[in-house]
Amino acid sequence: MSKKPVEKKSDPKTTGHIWDGIQEFDNPMPRWWLWTFYATIIWGIGYTMLYPAWPLISGVTHGLWGGSTREEVAADIKAFDDANAAIEAKLAAAPLASIATDAELGPFAQNAGKAVFQTWCAQCHGAGAGGAKGFPNLLDNDWLWGGTIDDIHYSVTHGIRNTTDADARFSQMPAFGDILEPADIDAVVNHVLNISGQEHDAALAAKGVQVFTDNCAACHGVDGKGDRAQGAPNLTDAIWLYGGDAATVTETVTKARFGVMPAWTGRLSESDIRAVASYVHSLGGGEQ
Ligand code: HEC
Ligand code: HEC
Repeated sequence: MSKKPVEKKSDPKTTGHIWDGIQEFDNPMPRWWLWTFYATIIWGIGYTMLYPAWPLISGVTHGLWGGSTREEVAADIKAFDDANAAIEAKLAAAPLASIATDAELGPFAQNAGKAVFQTWCAQCHGAGAGGAKGFPNLLDNDWLWGGTIDDIHYSVTHGIRNTTDADARFSQMPAFGDILEPADIDAVVNHVLNISGQEHDAALAAKGVQVFTDNCAACHGVDGKGDRAQGAPNLTDAIWLYGGDAATVTETVTKARFGVMPAWTGRLSESDIRAVASYVHSLGGGEQ
């Protein structure tokens, strides 16, 4: 315990708090500090009166000067929309094949298409359009449904196997687990491994040729090179949508797949759809 020191009249005022002999002074705040403090209060009141400040149940107080950053943003967006309206109308009306080579529309579609892609397509197809399992790579020249600008425009407009657009591209591979014996599935899987140039069991693959002709050729073609009219992938190349190893091919054949892509008409404007189709077409795999 500390002993209370004897106070002299000349000592500064204290609060009477003492700890280990240290006393707390009770000096007034410096003038300059107090006036600054009052000034901030007056500034604060003035600010909340002039500018949007207080939240209300719906919206906020607008302040005497009526400022609204929300309205400013809306005005900015409208200014851009207005500035682009003419070229967007031109893009929506131009023949698809002429967009890329048009001096004005080409660069605009490229920039706008890239922005649309990053916003609406990258989630599934990847930021670089490289795809992922079940989501096709849009950079290569291997197309499920077709790689001309018209094909791509159709795929984007109507989507694939969705239930919202009656014109969506559609096809359905049956689940052969319900149709074929496991031994036949084993055989046809080895045939697929064979035609795609992978390690396989030659005896099983030979047996699989007939299974393939009877059950798969209608969609994938007798030679397994696929059919774009049905979105049936080429099974002879090294590019796989779901995977080309024995286990994944067996899973695909047994349970089938059903890749769905949404339709973009109605969600995106025609000029945005054309811009993104043109952008995808330009990525490397576009066909004439
Ligand atoms: C919800 C996921 C999803 C989104 C979002 C999506 N896609 Fe797709 N897309 C798919 C799937 C899945 C397929 C493949 C369908 C199939 O198996 O045939 C596909 C196929 C395609 C194809 C056909 C490829 C080919 O080989 O023929 C194109 C072109 C395409 N998408 C472009 C786009 C564009 C452009 C956007 C953005 C506007 C987009 N996609 C957004 C899932 C998506
Ligand atoms: C009615 C048409 C149809 C028939 C019949 C059919 N397929 Fe398919 N197949 C498809 C379609 C369409 C896809 C793509 C599915 C998707 O994208 O969701 C596909 C996908 C595949 C894939 C995945 C390819 C990849 O890149 O990952 C394999 C493997 C395959 N089929 C093998 C077979 C075999 C083997 C048979 C016969 C036993 C067969 N298919 C019969 C239409 C068919």
